[in-house]
Amino acid sequence: MKALASIILAAGQGTRMHSSRAKVLHLLAGKPLLHYPLAAARSIAAERIVVVVGHQAAEVETCFAAPDLTWVTQAPQLGTGHALMCGREALEGFVGDLLLLCGDIPLIRLATLERLLGFHRQEKNAVTVLTTIAKEPTGYGRIIRAGGGDIARIVEEKDASAQERAVTEINSGIYCFDAAFVFSALDALSRHNAQNEYYLTDTVAIAAGQGRRVGGVLASSAEEVMGINTRIDLARAYELLRREVLERLMLAGVTIIDPHHTYVEPEVWVGKDTVIYPNSHFCGATRIGEGCVIEPGCRIVASTLGDRVVVKSTSVIEESVIREGASIGPFAHLRPQSDIGEGARIGNFVEVKKSIVGRGSKASHLTYLGDATIGAGVNVGAGTITCNYDGVAKHPTIIEDEVFVGSNTELVAPVRVGKGALIGAGSTITKDVPPESLAIARARQVNLPRKPLLGKKSGRES
Ligand code: UD1
Ligand code: CA
Repeated sequence: MKALASIILAAGQGTRMHSSRAKVLHLLAGKPLLHYPLAAARSIAAERIVVVVGHQAAEVETCFAAPDLTWVTQAPQLGTGHALMCGREALEGFVGDLLLLCGDIPLIRLATLERLLGFHRQEKNAVTVLTTIAKEPTGYGRIIRAGGGDIARIVEEKDASAQERAVTEINSGIYCFDAAFVFSALDALSRHNAQNEYYLTDTVAIAAGQGRRVGGVLASSAEEVMGINTRIDLARAYELLRREVLERLMLAGVTIIDPHHTYVEPEVWVGKDTVIYPNSHFCGATRIGEGCVIEPGCRIVASTLGDRVVVKSTSVIEESVIREGASIGPFAHLRPQSDIGEGARIGNFVEVKKSIVGRGSKASHLTYLGDATIGAGVNVGAGTITCNYDGVAKHPTIIEDEVFVGSNTELVAPVRVGKGALIGAGSTITKDVPPESLAIARARQVNLPRKPLLGKKSGRES
């Protein structure tokens, strides 16, 4: 089989985004736009991937730096044909097929690209254009077919006659080329057109003129080839992606109470019989087990939840692990590197950071656990705080199995509380507590006879 390379055009500024950020860095479902065509090029196993950047080239390159990518800068940007001229240098000597993708067409499906490439190879085409029938073709290049139905050329909106504008079959901007053909055809491009640009689309007429084979493949929907030009497009693309993800989850056995108000990024995996209430956000590589309940208004980022975990309303979980049967919230905040054990409970207004909470342990109310390692069966009373930061460095707190921490305790780290110890409520613990002992570190209560308040007569008088 012929070799395959991919070129992704991403040099354009994206003027209509009205943004100080390059268009391909705008986020769609948590990932910059360029992520999507890059992932497609990798999935289709292009041996070489060249990305043409221009506007904010350095930022784009930094964002996506990877050893399998070749970066080419196009400056100034003189059109799509010129962009490929820049990319051509990086592929000098390459023989095979070239899949051309655009940085701003994120919803393209792998199956469609495979169909495009398959047809291109089968027909031994010089160019195969991915097209679609657009309800609203304004702005796109129109596919002009000859009498026999073959594609003769592509005409840009700004260069088109009224008759040509009436054509609804449009150029998606994605193509397969025979690399040798297109690299030589680029030399024949000119800027004699309405936009004074080198049009890549002109290579189609060049192929047809040389008697080379030109083909077209229809995308499965106009939606999958939609280009992102404005923030309205961005929101529309997100809506399409979101709906697709939610439908996949529902078909796999997840109950989504209100799909109109549930936000799940594509990488997220959810087990069957999990119930998701509205207004929750699931981001990044999050994995939710089976039979979980996620109450309204939660945000779960890059975390793993075991089976039968309950996350009560308005909780935030970031880069953490919650094990089977644990219960979180309401109003809990789990910050990165927290690991909550089986059946453990992290309750109301509890913040946990970089801490391990053992099996069956509980911190039910108003607590901060930071840099702590907590064993199994521990009860952390209301209002407990690990004082992990001395203004310079963070220090660890270790609480061994079966400890009972009384309410309103401060644990001044570094400190260790031995197995089975009991800490009296209101203690400030600054020294290690031995196992099985009782530690109390608070001022003793004194009860004195009550005196009349200064400057006031006895309250009993009227
Ligand atoms: C292009 C096509 C048009 C097609 C449409 C689909 C041409 C001449 N026209 O038009 O037929 O219907 O895409 O969206 O090709 N780019 C560069 N360098 C440049 C110019 C563009 O890298 O100098 C990149 C852009 O970043 C973008 C892609 O090429 O990813 C398409 O550019 P854009 O300006 O959107 O092309 P259109 O005018 O929309
Ligand atoms: Ca465009």
